[in-house]
Amino acid sequence: MPAEPWNTFHAGDNLDVLPRLAPGSVDLVYTDPPYNTGNDFVYADRFRDHAAWTAMMRPRLVAMREVLAPHGAVFVSIDDNEVAHLRLLMDEVFGETNFLAQIVVNLNPKGRQLGRGFATSHEYVLAYARHLPSCVVEGSSTEAVDEADFPLTSADGRRFRYLPLRNTNKKFNPVTAPTLHFELYGDPVTGRVATTPFDGGRPLTPVFGDGRPAVWRWSRPLVDERPDDLECRVIRGRSGERVDIFQRDWLEREGGRRKKLRTIWLAEEIGSTDTAVAELKALVGHVFESPKPTGLVRRILSTVPDDAVVLDPFAGSGTTGHAVALANAADGGTRRCISINSAEPTREGSNAHLAGLATVADITRARLAAVAEQLGGGLEVVLESPDIR
Ligand SMILES: C[S@@+](CC[C@H](N)C(=O)[O-])C[C@H]1O[C@@H](n2cnc3c(N)ncnc32)[C@H](O)[C@@H]1O
Repeated sequence: MPAEPWNTFHAGDNLDVLPRLAPGSVDLVYTDPPYNTGNDFVYADRFRDHAAWTAMMRPRLVAMREVLAPHGAVFVSIDDNEVAHLRLLMDEVFGETNFLAQIVVNLNPKGRQLGRGFATSHEYVLAYARHLPSCVVEGSSTEAVDEADFPLTSADGRRFRYLPLRNTNKKFNPVTAPTLHFELYGDPVTGRVATTPFDGGRPLTPVFGDGRPAVWRWSRPLVDERPDDLECRVIRGRSGERVDIFQRDWLEREGGRRKKLRTIWLAEEIGSTDTAVAELKALVGHVFESPKPTGLVRRILSTVPDDAVVLDPFAGSGTTGHAVALANAADGGTRRCISINSAEPTREGSNAHLAGLATVADITRARLAAVAEQLGGGLEVVLESPDIR
């Protein structure tokens, strides 16, 4: 039974709305607060100074923490103007020990050409767990797997690569991991590997490149269990030919293959501000200045289970809700997204205003309605804040 609606929108100040959500009911917060750039965007993105910005953010981060489940996490977009302040503020609210990552997001690949100095081409996402030991966030994704890393094809058509069975990390050796130093038998002609002697099998022990004793990555019982995933081969190294044992590491494996996510996310992987503007334009129009690309949010979604309850308390043009619907449509997931945005008036003469969208909340709602129309999943709108009457 799919959890519908996929999207819920609350128009109002998030400080009023957040306390109305059930404590512990949210798995993931992704949000993109005003950046304090001093630019005149559709919404008021200007604070007198860092202290004013921090004072605005502190109670809101506390309120986000309240609604997070113990296994949940929060991801916040931020640029150079406030990253240092936000990092300290999040240390204060969530605790330094719950720090997950400071990710560099390359949203402007050409670089900012205005003003003096460097052509800034990135901003950040700061990620903190509610409680690190129970956090469900996996710093890995199925999307990050590159098929080109698996260049070989087996007789039955499955893609794979060879990995040395020998542990190449010097920290692991017969002293630190004695149970992983044992003799295996391998036949480089047939490829067969076993823990006990057989005809044609020669004894092999793991050694480092310099000849010192090493250890295997697999225990003896694991070799007995999966001998067909191992292969004895002759390889040509710097010091001539040698016989060694390799694991056949399959591209497809049960439960899906995951790859650790690096902390630099490129525009070619997740999209850019330009692609984000195009995404919004296709649904509603060019009615918001700096939306985030759905690819950024989808990558964050890929680190949590596909039934996550997601919250974006500074929803802007509704990118997070759009990304949730795209992810559900793509993988059959049952994620739900709660978006909040205040009903700040849009600037007179702006595209949004000319399009009849009098407030930023109108923009959020218009996009989420268009998303429901296009992808399904429905939209529930909650108008509960006095500032929209
Ligand atoms: C940087 S924008 C978010 C953009 C969004 N990530 C997107 O892709 O469109 C920040 C948003 O927060 C909203 N906002 C600012 N203060 C707010 C508050 N106290 N409560 C709710 N929304 C607020 C602004 O109206 C603005 O739309």
